[in-house]
Amino acid sequence: MIKVRLINHEIKNDVFELIRVFFPMEEIEFQENDNDSIEESLYIISSLERSNGKLYSSTKVYRDNSLIDQSIEDINLINIYSDYIEKDIRIGIKKSLYNALIKLTENEIPWGILTGIRPVKIVHELLNKGIEDGEIIKVLTGEYKLSDSKAKLILDIGKRQRDYIYPIDKNRFSLYISIPFCPTRCLYCSFPTLPLGRFQHHIEEYVTKLIYEIKSIKKITEGMKINTAYIGGGTPTAIPAKELEKIIQEVYNCFGKRNIREFTVEAGRPDTITEEYLKVLYKNDINRISINPQTMNDDSLKLIGRKHSPDDIIKTYYMAKEIGFPIINMDLIIGLPGEGLKEIKNTLKEIEKLDPENLTVHTLSVKRGSRFWTTLEEYNLENQSTIGDMLKETVEYSKKMNLIPYYLYRQKLILGNFENIGYAKPKMECIYNIAIMEEKETIIGAGMGAVSKVFFPEENRIERIPNFRDIKEYIGRIDEQIHNKEKIIKDL
Ligand SMILES: C[S@@+](CC[C@H](N)C(=O)[O-])C[C@H]1O[C@@H](n2cnc3c(N)ncnc32)[C@H](O)[C@@H]1O
Ligand code: SF4
Repeated sequence: MIKVRLINHEIKNDVFELIRVFFPMEEIEFQENDNDSIEESLYIISSLERSNGKLYSSTKVYRDNSLIDQSIEDINLINIYSDYIEKDIRIGIKKSLYNALIKLTENEIPWGILTGIRPVKIVHELLNKGIEDGEIIKVLTGEYKLSDSKAKLILDIGKRQRDYIYPIDKNRFSLYISIPFCPTRCLYCSFPTLPLGRFQHHIEEYVTKLIYEIKSIKKITEGMKINTAYIGGGTPTAIPAKELEKIIQEVYNCFGKRNIREFTVEAGRPDTITEEYLKVLYKNDINRISINPQTMNDDSLKLIGRKHSPDDIIKTYYMAKEIGFPIINMDLIIGLPGEGLKEIKNTLKEIEKLDPENLTVHTLSVKRGSRFWTTLEEYNLENQSTIGDMLKETVEYSKKMNLIPYYLYRQKLILGNFENIGYAKPKMECIYNIAIMEEKETIIGAGMGAVSKVFFPEENRIERIPNFRDIKEYIGRIDEQIHNKEKIIKDL
């Protein structure tokens, strides 16, 4: 157990998340009372202090009642080009915590003090202020404590995204449509998705309500212009092709085929895709699909509960290429139970032969709400250094395949404190993925569990409007969800 005491500040969440980066398996408890015992294996005091008119952040670390490390940061010297002192204080508190804890761990902390999901946003903020590349790297490594390679990676990604994000247009939006059905639930998945076995009978009614919602979105976005559309899930191809076709055609009806710059269907699981299905998507001008292996090792596919073999993946991929899809994405997960360097090399060797236009490399994240979370003790997971080596392989293979990183995000409880990276061949980046990650464009979500995010550029602010995550509530309270979106969009 790690006990933490905050003095003169309430930056609890950031402190909690950063301590968890250093000690992922430890319980962390905040001490509210000065008199509590400090005879814990680790006791951390994080405080904000004022002295001679200056602000300092200080961290003291005790083990078995003895002070074993401490660190002080002068907040006035924090140089992150921020307009707000509150932000400097937050960074100062995390930086002194980092400096005090770094000597106590053998693990690498490649993302330094960053615990958020979207590190590339920092690069955009700095670029928007006209800061030069060298100085950006200095801020990322010196203040945010990123490793040199992560700093360079997010600078490169940020620069690559600029043409897709800027100039900002507050009337531009992308449409996300959720199909929350899957053939079965994968071991690691916590998405709000429904296994077909129990929920098949809801599909028709779901599609009817979804189409009603899409029509209503057309009305509430009058005067705005669509950028991209993305049908995700779940597994969109888990529902019959004629149902998915109705949805796609409704999107065209409402927003005009020619206005949609990119239309993705995350086909996902090869066990839901047939030649007929692919032809329906192709005929309806879907220009980007996902066929997701996760791994090319049969034993692992069985273990995670996906009902397809590596052979099914290869056959489905060639079928889609033959039909003519210009961009195929493949998702992989690094760190699946039972997988080490040998298994990853095998997966990558197979993927290299297929040569997809996009590759998304996820690092396994142990999510609450997944089967994995509740059965964790049954599995052996690799240590940070092996996960790091496996990720290095993905970087090497991507280079060989001329795939360049173009978006990146991180998750809580991600193995080894690493990241997820989307790769694309030049000019084949998924515009929707950049929009959802960098939050500089409005995304309007339709369907169960879909989250709309309205972007107010003047305030650089996002307003989230979630739909219900329960099928009965989604179907029964559809007008309420449309009304919630309308209320916010009309303030744009
Ligand atoms: C929303 S899922 C939908 C994709 C599709 N249903 C499929 O499974 O092929 C998007 C991707 O997130 C990744 N993913 C899901 N859960 C994950 C986890 N716990 N850790 C790492 N990656 C995960 C998988 O690579 C998955 O393909
Ligand atoms: S990973 Fe994909 S197929 Fe598996 S349960 Fe989650 S959404 Fe469904």
